[in-house]
Amino acid sequence: MDLEQQKKAPVFEALETLKRMRVVPFDVPGHKRGRGNPELTEFLGQRALSVDVNSMKPLDNLCHPVSVIKEAEELAADAFGAEHAFFMVGGTTSAVQAMILAACRKNEKIILPRNVHRSAINALVLGGGVPVYVNPGTNKEYGIPLGMELAEVEKAIEQNPDAKAVLVNNPTYYGICSDLKGIVELAHRHGMLVLADEAHGTHFYFHDELPVSAMEAGADMAAVSMHKTGGSLTQSSLLLLGKNAPEGYVRQIINLTQTTSGSYLLLSSLDISRRNLALRGKQIFDRVLYLARDAREEVNKIGGYCAYGTELVNGRDVFAFDETKLSIYTRGIGLAGIEVYDILRDDYGIQIEFGDLGNILAIISVGDTELAIERLVSSLAEIRRRFSKSAEGMFDHEYITPDVVVRPQKAFYADTRVVALPEAAGLVSAEFVMCYPPGIPILAPGERITQEILSYIAYAKEKGCSLTGTQDIDLNTIHVIAD
Ligand SMILES: Cc1ncc(COP(=O)(O)O)c(C=O)c1O
Repeated sequence: MDLEQQKKAPVFEALETLKRMRVVPFDVPGHKRGRGNPELTEFLGQRALSVDVNSMKPLDNLCHPVSVIKEAEELAADAFGAEHAFFMVGGTTSAVQAMILAACRKNEKIILPRNVHRSAINALVLGGGVPVYVNPGTNKEYGIPLGMELAEVEKAIEQNPDAKAVLVNNPTYYGICSDLKGIVELAHRHGMLVLADEAHGTHFYFHDELPVSAMEAGADMAAVSMHKTGGSLTQSSLLLLGKNAPEGYVRQIINLTQTTSGSYLLLSSLDISRRNLALRGKQIFDRVLYLARDAREEVNKIGGYCAYGTELVNGRDVFAFDETKLSIYTRGIGLAGIEVYDILRDDYGIQIEFGDLGNILAIISVGDTELAIERLVSSLAEIRRRFSKSAEGMFDHEYITPDVVVRPQKAFYADTRVVALPEAAGLVSAEFVMCYPPGIPILAPGERITQEILSYIAYAKEKGCSLTGTQDIDLNTIHVIAD
């Protein structure tokens, strides 16, 4: 990385220049630097509204970058060790979908773990790709899905030599990584691309005590959530390309669904955050690691909880662990993760990332302080004192192996009928069902609805999980494929 070059922030600098030029706007957005919407300007501030502008010559064009966005993307590529970087303004969802749509056309296969984010399976609905699922390992004690074992990926590759790509979570929401380097070597030997969902792995690029990043491992594309742990504004993201990915074609795929009015608030936030990470990433994540390690130790002193970490690493389905993820097992105090999540917010004013049936996740990142961590730890201790109970009868696993009957696109667009959810056992779903967060489907279109899945959904509902994906917002009914 060229540190001298990394001091630049071309999009940010172009916006500063534009402000000084005092151009009279007869283009959109119609608020005209905030003047037309005083309440919004009061709320967000004049400085923010003054750079909420549309693309114009001095600011380049996100869909066809030739000047400052191009330069900013080149700097991002250099900072992340990529061949090319695309600035994305549709969240990491858009980056995941672009990777998959670029790698895999209709009826072409992609090998992936089933514990992927909904955006990956959505891409198969959109493009007609065919999933070949590798079941992730599972940890029996905490009930969580793990990474993919190399041997399982190898089996899937050998059984599906015509697959075009392998997609890997790097890491999972819980912080678990598969053997990405091993998978890259294997997939490349068989002429397949490797795509990494790095929604939770931005920081891997900036600290050598963190798991290997996709670009370092030799992956072909990676979707990186700058907005999650990189410090940029919500919805801003990067799509990174390695040596073998076709830049021009990927840009065309991105432009199939990308807005033609990319937000300069988001673009400048990517530019400034990349500069910050490139220049100060090591110190930032030194501190994040220190805070997370300390928090893990303190949580484990409380008793009942387990803040798991690198001790899970086994060289197979947990190849590495991201220590900045404070994943905590809560079933030991007789509470579902989602219950602890709700109590933390409602009684203690603490918002964590997610709670599922047996775990919670607190993300420790660039904006955290020791004081905030102390508050989290003391609140967890108090919750244990006030609310702990017997864990008997609690649902003890998060992952259910799917029975895929029909491919996602065919199922989504099939003729359907609506049935009451409790009567759906044995039928094939045409819809997604997932707890959000984390947004990993319990059911995807084309999968058989089993009694175990219905019990999981009923339990998750009872515990207060937000269940999403179906047309029926209350999930009392579900669309199934008509016979
Ligand atoms: C693993 C994973 N991939 C992709 C996404 C999509 O990211 P975004 O919300 O930025 O669209 C998420 C979001 O939580 C995620 O957890």
